[in-house]
Amino acid sequence: MSVSRIRTSVTVTGHTQMVGLLGWPVEHTISPAMHNAAFAALGMDWCYVPFAVPPARLKEALRGVSALGLRGMNATVPHKQALVHLVDELSPEARAIGAVNTLLMGDKIRGHNTDASGFLRALSEAHMSEADTALILGAGGAARAVGYALLSRGTRLVILNRTGERATALASDLRKALPGPQVDASVLRPETLAACAPRVDLIVNTTIVGMSPQAGECPWPSEVAYPGSVPLFDLIYTPRETRLMALARQSGARAANGLGMLVHQGAEAFRLWTGTEPPVDAMREACQDALEEG
Ligand code: ATR
Repeated sequence: MSVSRIRTSVTVTGHTQMVGLLGWPVEHTISPAMHNAAFAALGMDWCYVPFAVPPARLKEALRGVSALGLRGMNATVPHKQALVHLVDELSPEARAIGAVNTLLMGDKIRGHNTDASGFLRALSEAHMSEADTALILGAGGAARAVGYALLSRGTRLVILNRTGERATALASDLRKALPGPQVDASVLRPETLAACAPRVDLIVNTTIVGMSPQAGECPWPSEVAYPGSVPLFDLIYTPRETRLMALARQSGARAANGLGMLVHQGAEAFRLWTGTEPPVDAMREACQDALEEG
């Protein structure tokens, strides 16, 4: 089903349950296509609408969402961190990651983070769940969710980031949140990468390097060999195959893009809002169509 068809097929009545997205900007989001396709696939009288809310008006918007009786919301850039301080309750994941991407509205507003569980589901779907030690490239917001997710299932971590202090700070936060498996951190340089690459059995790119429109770039320095068959999970989904994914495949490794994580974080939000098992295949198809339509 095409996105334009989904758009025209939504009929809003006084019974329609509303959910949506808080972001700034929201013009390029494909979440409405994904969620409205899910509602259509299950014949549910629900509708998902994106709202462009500037950071200075987030608190006000949250009160409005609550007063209007919306059932839930997603949150995206730049609101995920600010919402931690604005909601009434936090899930343990949202608290530990320090970011909220899903809101459940009720008597109280509860902040959740479905990026971590969405990542783990996508990793499992890609048959990459067996790692003992993972290398995470990057230390931004996405790396926080990925690091928390992997640590929660007992995976040791090496975090390498262009800005070394950010890697060290993330490692320290993760150690506090989930004491147990070892977490190392350093600056991303050819020598640090060459030293740790042979001892990991999963590589996750959480940096934005290689994302359209900079699809020609690669976070892996050309002077370091990609470690043979170590699987790569790249969180980027535009383009569908990044230069890093191509490099991994040329070295004989399996590589997955971030579409699965996008779909599964959405599916987990859908579960929270509706209490219904999400139609994951319809959601994935809608995302693929939306990305093709550009
Ligand atoms: P997100 O929430 O998507 O993770 P972010 O918090 O801005 O976004 O993080 C972006 C990540 O990509 C960071 O790890 C960033 O490295 P810095 O912490 O040094 O900024 C990384 N990144 C962005 N541009 C990069 C580049 N040209 N080379 C290497 N890493 C880069």
